[in-house]
Amino acid sequence: MRRLVRETRLNPAQFILPLFVCPGEGVRREISAMPGNYQMSVDETVRECEEVGSLGIGGIILFGLPETKDETASGAYADDGIVQRALRAIKHTTPGLLALTDVCNCEYTSHGHCGKIVNGDVDNDETLKWLAATAVSHARAGADIVAPSDMMDGRVGAIRQALDAAGFQNTPILSYAAKFASVFYGPFREAAESAPQFGDRRSYQMDPANGREAMREIELDVEEGADMIMVKPAMPYLDLIWQARQRFDLPLGAYQVSGEFSMILAAGRNGWIDCERAMMESLTSIRRAGADFILTYFAKPAARLLA
Ligand code: PBG
Repeated sequence: MRRLVRETRLNPAQFILPLFVCPGEGVRREISAMPGNYQMSVDETVRECEEVGSLGIGGIILFGLPETKDETASGAYADDGIVQRALRAIKHTTPGLLALTDVCNCEYTSHGHCGKIVNGDVDNDETLKWLAATAVSHARAGADIVAPSDMMDGRVGAIRQALDAAGFQNTPILSYAAKFASVFYGPFREAAESAPQFGDRRSYQMDPANGREAMREIELDVEEGADMIMVKPAMPYLDLIWQARQRFDLPLGAYQVSGEFSMILAAGRNGWIDCERAMMESLTSIRRAGADFILTYFAKPAARLLA
């Protein structure tokens, strides 16, 4: 009877699995703070995608670890960059698997910030050029959706314009519209080797205290042409997922970030919590708050449980 009257259901098609692509061949290096997640070379990523597809998972989102980092994030928008190479390989082997890309610079800059540094600070407008170039190069390599996560102002408009000019009118933008300067990204920065080398991200990511500002940020991205929007992190911001659901009719995603994943897993490994139930309860709560889809490191184990 509970099953019959259940209001919120989970389906693997609603999950997107983040993957970290690194140089080399046959590389599959476990991320210590995120057990069960790996930095994978392109060949291993392709194999992973076959498994992800067979589990009925909605798609993947790619993050890249370039061979070298520099001041200008050149690896982010290089036509033979790590994400671009992975995309071509994935689209060749699993063309039906939805492939998203994270559009940002922090994995590619030597200083670890999401934008160009001018006079010791991230320069918003200069950074837009890199982001637009990155999005176009991802689309060219086969990305189905580009997802800017940098939180520069005006980036959705800049990316839309660049995509259209390059002939990618049909490539949608999933905007990390309300993204907070969150401590819960900690484990990710090990995974993506993207911790800022000085300062923090509070000049471009949002203050966790501000809910009304989050709605304003989403509104701006919608006006600039975002096709889908996202709230990130997820569980500490369920109220904002709910508000966004009430106010906007676009497809709404939520990112259950690395720290959310690692906390549940760590408590489970200590015997302090039932990891499987915590995983399913957290995913259900994010859907109940109003998210259509969830970026989650639990995509594979949750899909297996739902099978
Ligand atoms: C890139 C980016 C980050 C995450 C997604 N894209 C890190 C950050 O903003 O510092 C975090 C994802 C996670 O914690 O799982 N800017």
